[in-house]
Amino acid sequence: MLNFEFRNPTHIVFGQGTLPRLDGLVPADARVLLLYGGDSAHRHGTLDQVRQALGQRHVEEFAGIEANPEYDTLMRAVQQVRHQQLNFLLAIGGGSVIDGSKFVAAASLYDGDPWEILTHHGSVLKEALPLGCVLTLPATGSEMNSGAVITRRALQAKLAFMHPVAYPRFSVLDPCLSMTLPARQVANGIVDAYVHVMEQYLTYPCAALPQDRFAEGLLLSLIETGPQTLAHPHDYDARANLVWSATLALNGLIGAGVPQDWSTHMIGHELTALHGIDHARTLAIVLPGNLQVRREAKREKLLQYASRVWGLDDGDADTRIDAAIRSTREFFESLGVPTRLGDYQLGAAHVDTIVEQLQAHQMTQLGERRDVTPELSRRILMACL
Ligand code: NZQ
Ligand code: ZN
Repeated sequence: MLNFEFRNPTHIVFGQGTLPRLDGLVPADARVLLLYGGDSAHRHGTLDQVRQALGQRHVEEFAGIEANPEYDTLMRAVQQVRHQQLNFLLAIGGGSVIDGSKFVAAASLYDGDPWEILTHHGSVLKEALPLGCVLTLPATGSEMNSGAVITRRALQAKLAFMHPVAYPRFSVLDPCLSMTLPARQVANGIVDAYVHVMEQYLTYPCAALPQDRFAEGLLLSLIETGPQTLAHPHDYDARANLVWSATLALNGLIGAGVPQDWSTHMIGHELTALHGIDHARTLAIVLPGNLQVRREAKREKLLQYASRVWGLDDGDADTRIDAAIRSTREFFESLGVPTRLGDYQLGAAHVDTIVEQLQAHQMTQLGERRDVTPELSRRILMACL
């Protein structure tokens, strides 16, 4: 039975040549901090265009937010915000920069130890500075959701927080800004968005027809536009559809009122924290093994997925499920994303430590039925070798 609240306050400005719109989106009297990553925003001219759009506003910069944004780096940005009395954050980048900026926005106004924001997964928050985003990498959906994932290497921890105060006020999505991405990052983005849909869709039926059809539509769009974008990086239509699919995959729409899994993500976060594997690449490893091990609990949705997404209608049910899991793996591989732990020189000997880290982070009751215990996570990881 459907029963839910749905809210998404992020204003999206989508399309080619939309960066000048920043002038109308950022308050005229704002004291702005631009946050970005390495040198891609600078090198490709995005930073200059943003500065131009902001005109005479007071603008400061914080550079160097790394992939899998690091707590200690972000705390330096918090100091800068406080010291220079800045009151508006503008993130320019992909999920790492946007997530990191969400944390800076929240931590700058937080009285206690900011690490609590992560250990309590956001529940301690009451306010955050306003944040706007300029998206340069379609993947995470962070530009239109209230979540963020922060790493603290010293503790080998990668923890998420989520809170309504962390929604961006606006996000500018100019698909052309992502045309400079290397193929590896484009492929990562396709896989990440695909798995976001799967985490919210491939659970058990609950009479949520629009959510199911939207989810299947997004999967089909990713299967179509992903390879087109990789083959033709300057094809605007393919790129624009990829960008919007990735945003819609995790802006709350398809997840409203439905059971959600997220175990692939939580196991994947440990792989990134321990072994430095790109976020999306951890998902490509874990998802096929996860579906395989939990195929009975997910049976009805696996059959629906097989039929509606992969057109697999022949043969007995188990044959169709096998084929759907195989098609998923082959899709990731076709994008150049490996799908086995062995592809990263990891084997059975590494599994215990990953499971121990899940336990250390209280990730002991995962999945849509909270039945993915450490023992089940171990079986899943063994199916990913
Ligand atoms: O640092 P620079 O030089 O900017 O280079 C970046 C970075 O190295 C580069 N890049 C970004 N835009 C570019 C570009 N290079 C050329 N041209 C451009 N236009 O791409 C590299 C990767 O960027 P990153 O932001 O790390 O990638 P992604 O967007 O995949 O974000 C991954 C992070 O998001 C988290 C992940 O855990 C990971 O930390 N996630 C956030 C979620 C959320 N907030 O809802 C959900 C996801 O499941 C995910 O967990
Ligand atoms: Zn993800």
